[in-house]
Amino acid sequence: MVCLGNICRSPLAEGILRHRLNERGLHNIRVDSAGTSGYHTGDHPDARTIQNARKHQVDLSQLISRQFTRHDFAAFDFIYVMDSSNYRDVIALAQTEEEKSKVDLLLNTVWKGENRAVPDPYYGGETGFEHVFQLVDRACTKLADDLLKQHAL
Ligand code: 4NP
Repeated sequence: MVCLGNICRSPLAEGILRHRLNERGLHNIRVDSAGTSGYHTGDHPDARTIQNARKHQVDLSQLISRQFTRHDFAAFDFIYVMDSSNYRDVIALAQTEEEKSKVDLLLNTVWKGENRAVPDPYYGGETGFEHVFQLVDRACTKLADDLLKQHAL
């Protein structure tokens, strides 16, 4: 899961997806997040993001921001970005078509091909954080359901 700062949207997506996978008994799928920038490297998620996620039983308090690197292409099968700016920044680091093919906008899992963005809640109010939670949760629940179906095959 990749956003700009790795303190709001992508740590939330990491925490929610892990939570939804655990609920389904899928414990062996590696989930991580990173930022295209290094602005917040070493920081915990934004306090407002942590607080809002906690209301939904998702604990983000132990997560620590790191910057996305080209080595992440080898380490992960899927790379989900939050908006088109993240998409451009990640694609710019890809060295092969296979690496590029791993990258998609997170909300395309729900709204196929629409290229909808998860808005950055950093400068907004509390409703922004809840709205972002609902959007990200919708996509992560779909991903977890799809992975469970694949697991059952
Ligand atoms: P995020 O939000 O990309 O969802 O983590 C941001 C947080 C901080 C900044 C940008 C985006 N910033 O520029 O400090």
